[in-house]
Amino acid sequence: MIGIFDSGVGGMTVARAIEHLCPDLPLVYFGDIARTPYGSKSPDTIIRYSRFNTDFLLEQGAKLIVVACNSASSAAADALRFHYSVPVLDVITPATIKAAELSGAGRIGIIGTRATVKSGIYPQRIREIRPDAKVFSQACPLLVPLVEEGWLNKRETKMILRGYLHPLRLKKIDTLVLGCTHYPLLKQLIGPRIGNQVRLIDSSVEMALHVQAYLDAHPELKERLRGKGGASRFYVSDCTEAVEQMAARIFGRPLELQTIAT
Ligand code: DGL
Repeated sequence: MIGIFDSGVGGMTVARAIEHLCPDLPLVYFGDIARTPYGSKSPDTIIRYSRFNTDFLLEQGAKLIVVACNSASSAAADALRFHYSVPVLDVITPATIKAAELSGAGRIGIIGTRATVKSGIYPQRIREIRPDAKVFSQACPLLVPLVEEGWLNKRETKMILRGYLHPLRLKKIDTLVLGCTHYPLLKQLIGPRIGNQVRLIDSSVEMALHVQAYLDAHPELKERLRGKGGASRFYVSDCTEAVEQMAARIFGRPLELQTIAT
């Protein structure tokens, strides 16, 4: 199975994109709803939670770990690679490769949680690939709660987005990385507000393409992921009606969410 974890339900954007590209591979997903958000926590805490999540997914039979959460990828992916022998793919690597490749002028914007922006990992990785790039980051802490409230088309959400995106507009970016699990759900609002000429990089789509390419390059692992087949399973550390609704909105179908204690 492909093990995927996130701080909550937003990482299902990544799980959905992987399911779409690799429909024959079963997934085991864990969303740490009880301890969300990770984006406002310290790196040490995020590492501790990420290790718990990885242990759980390995117990469930995962042979590959996908860190769907940008905040966990920035704080904990290296620590996970150090502690575990299974491959760990983080959501940041594919998005940075795509941004460096797509940007004409090398002026790239990043939006994410405070933890992701504070880590500086996006600018660092982009400049490793493209040293001439100018990277401008903006933390957008209000966007996750707005998405979780389902305020996807409210006037207030549009206003807040305009405020966050304004500094990036002034920097004349030509590419914008949506560096958080929740932002793909705001894509339609972000496009016109940052300017329709700006290319948007959806980290969930890039992650799925990266997983597919990784498995094509490692056919023996792909075979092991198939295991005995079986259906995908979805776990959360707390479940409310809002969580069920958001999971169903992302997947386009109701999901059976099993709750485990953390
Ligand atoms: N999943 C987180 C991320 O992608 C957003 C929610 C949170 O802060 O936990 O950064």
